[in-house]
Amino acid sequence: MTLFRGTFLDTPHNPFTGGTLRVATDAALLVEDGMISARGPYPELRRAHPAENIVDLTGGLVLPGFVDTHVHFPQIRAVGGMGMPLLEWLDKYALPEEARMADVGYAAGVAAEFVRGLAAAGTTSALVFGAHYADAVDTLFSAASRVGLRITSGLVVSDRFLRPELLTTPERAQTESLALASRWHGVGRNRYAVTPRFSLSCTDDLLEVCHTVLEEIPGALFTSHLNENEAEIATVAELFGGSDYAGTYDRHGLLDHRSVLAHNVHPTDVELKLLAESGATVAHCPTSNAVLGSGLFPLGRHLDHGVRVALGSDVGAGTGFSLLKEGLQAYFCQQLLGDHGHPLTAAHLLHLATTAGAEALGLSAEVGDLSVGKRFDAQLLRPADGSPLAVGVTHAADAEDVLARVFTLGTPADVRAVWIDGQLLHVDTANEKG
Ligand code: GUN
Ligand code: ZN
Repeated sequence: MTLFRGTFLDTPHNPFTGGTLRVATDAALLVEDGMISARGPYPELRRAHPAENIVDLTGGLVLPGFVDTHVHFPQIRAVGGMGMPLLEWLDKYALPEEARMADVGYAAGVAAEFVRGLAAAGTTSALVFGAHYADAVDTLFSAASRVGLRITSGLVVSDRFLRPELLTTPERAQTESLALASRWHGVGRNRYAVTPRFSLSCTDDLLEVCHTVLEEIPGALFTSHLNENEAEIATVAELFGGSDYAGTYDRHGLLDHRSVLAHNVHPTDVELKLLAESGATVAHCPTSNAVLGSGLFPLGRHLDHGVRVALGSDVGAGTGFSLLKEGLQAYFCQQLLGDHGHPLTAAHLLHLATTAGAEALGLSAEVGDLSVGKRFDAQLLRPADGSPLAVGVTHAADAEDVLARVFTLGTPADVRAVWIDGQLLHVDTANEKG
């Protein structure tokens, strides 16, 4: 058993429904076999457990590990494409890189960079868009297993529209997906996600196979893209006989509480109602939406309809792994919507980056906050002395103000240590301090 001593911030009480940030100053968490078995003021816990090993994290800030609900493993070397809307960006920038994943050695190198980048940003759980090649998806699960991240991922499938080398057939998609799931689903912290790229690149036959595969893997998730860009949406409507975008998944039984759909920047009210009734989650990816000029996410309409929303980095259209940056951009986005925006506080941002993500991924019994009974998935933030964030934190009015400054100024360089199941990750990065 270990006593972690420090200041802990988390959001077990949803700030979107009246909850507030939970702040525990000079507190302790007792961690036993990776699980938090007690929490309280440090002096009290110390008295109760005088002989336990202490990990002293005072002087920093401990947050739950982030949960990234939408990130593309094969795109880490394709961050930074500017000046293109979605379909042009895919064609000219992202998909040529995704085609390189045919080379398993290349994919393994990318996988190592990818898991290192996630962990260094304080992300401990992620729903990851895999590659179009099964061997490349194997390299991702292998790399994630080495680091110990909680990864849900799968083979990305498409049978039209993309460059030919990225296409599959419904039969091959089924065989390869089930084979991958049998190798990785439920093995260690890995889980499988059925992953058609987007309905624009998938026939009804392929989407039907996705449903078959989803039903064959108990505990698997479903993920894809939805209503990201106006030209994309128009093309989907043409391809599917005038259907709205959400309907292209729903007609194959692909929308329920296991589903995570990225973007949904331009939904109709009918689609929002469908998403709410189905229990699906929308992964809001604000830096990506800004880079590709996709639009401003209507968070208020999602909340009004009761649609679950979490946060995704969407690397590589997104600008990096940090959910601190995504949180700040989510805040910007709502500010820019003016009267139509939903005002966000730092507590909302932390909730979106942690608890909401855990709920989306079906992991909320295990992770998402630092309550007794949860696994100790956590990150220590401690800015360098004299840095703008250190100055900001020193002069903050209260804990919520500290958190607002962390979202505004924090970067992966401020993430000094990351734990999963109480185990310190040995992340091989320049900023790791242990
Ligand atoms: N829609 C289909 N594929 C992609 C992708 O790789 N990135 C984004 N942002 N949208 C997509
Ligand atoms: Zn995406």
